[in-house]
Amino acid sequence: MREYVLSRLAGDGIGPEVVGEASKVMEAAGQQAGFAIRWVDYPFGAEHYLRTGEVLPEGAVREMGETDALLLGAVGDPRVKPGILERGILLHLRFHFDQYVNLRPAKSYPRVPLPIQPKSGKGLDTLVVRENTEDFYIGIGGRTERGKTSVDLATERGLFTLTGRLEGAFSGATEGAFQLGVASEPAVRRVVAYGCRAAKARGEEGIAVASKANALPQMYGFWEEVARDEANRQGIKMSVVNVDAMCYHLVRTPDLYGVIVAPNMFGDIVSDLLAGLAGGLGVAAGADIGDGLSMFEPIHGSAPDIAGTGSANPIATILTGALLLNHIGEQGAATAVERAVTEFLEQAAPKALPREFGGDGTTTAVGEAILKRL
Ligand code: NAD
Ligand code: IPM
Ligand code: MN
Repeated sequence: MREYVLSRLAGDGIGPEVVGEASKVMEAAGQQAGFAIRWVDYPFGAEHYLRTGEVLPEGAVREMGETDALLLGAVGDPRVKPGILERGILLHLRFHFDQYVNLRPAKSYPRVPLPIQPKSGKGLDTLVVRENTEDFYIGIGGRTERGKTSVDLATERGLFTLTGRLEGAFSGATEGAFQLGVASEPAVRRVVAYGCRAAKARGEEGIAVASKANALPQMYGFWEEVARDEANRQGIKMSVVNVDAMCYHLVRTPDLYGVIVAPNMFGDIVSDLLAGLAGGLGVAAGADIGDGLSMFEPIHGSAPDIAGTGSANPIATILTGALLLNHIGEQGAATAVERAVTEFLEQAAPKALPREFGGDGTTTAVGEAILKRL
């Protein structure tokens, strides 16, 4: 029997709840398709940090790198200062393994109510291809002290190392803070190339690039130039849409775009918007793809507002599990999981639907019902 070794980091809030359901469904799909999953569990997240002061040890990261893929729930907890866990775990993993594409399909499913019905009468099927290693996420910045700043630029990425220092001072010892955005040619090129290949695979002629060169011409003007060159090389049409206008168009015409390629921060924002338009964060799957270890995580976070109530919809993580299975070469099992989700949504009694969609289906009840469909 084939065996896959998968790292599993359930994390905080609803993370363990939804990862639990997704794991059961993935195991069952494996049994049917003739493979087994061996999980390697990691305890990192708020509880572990508050107890031990440890965020994510390098030894664990090395170990994860030896496994076939990583399934992650979510990290972040109101008891921990924002950024410590999110940057220390989630972004660290994306950067360490150079997971340069954050793939976020916005797909609508049967009986999932859409807040705005597309005029075509059909559902949504848009793919957000988000750059995942740089932009304002690069992690360079700092606060002033008595108006002065001296920020170390030292950064390591799969594609480059950056060195140097940024010095500055406000007059009158005015205090402030800096956050630097960075775009590198190879990083833009590879994510745009990925988006172009995805568009071809979907039978589409073009991609839409989310930008904002009118206000931030240095970084996003460069982005557009490199993207245009790469799209030409790939033989794909490219339109540039300012991200503010993109949000406006999306609310009026949710199914306007096929493949959206976006810099890191715009991709983060636009993918949550599209998740909302496609029915909810509870069905929005995601993947961080690189040439080494890839990571699979729903778009949503730890949802502390509903953690422990049984209201979390596990479908996003179950569909994320399907993306993982597809990635490790188990297309049959991936399709079976997706079909089970679709059939459940089509056929479930109204009361059995997830609470997110007006039913009374708890996290475990929805997970069990999908498992039965398999
Ligand atoms: P969030 O995605 O956790 O929640 C936004 C809203 O969506 C909340 O009302 C929540 O209840 C709802 N929601 C999310 N997932 C749901 C699900 N599966 N079913 C039903 N409803 C769901 O975003 P937030 O509130 O901005 O962040 C909460 C914490 O999660 C923060 O600490 C944040 O930093 C962190 N976060 C982590 C990740 C990650 O680890 N991948 C992603 C986003 C946010
Ligand atoms: C996401 C999240 C993260 C991001 C946060 C938690 C750092 O919002 O995965 O979309 O901004 O990438
Ligand atoms: Mn986000």
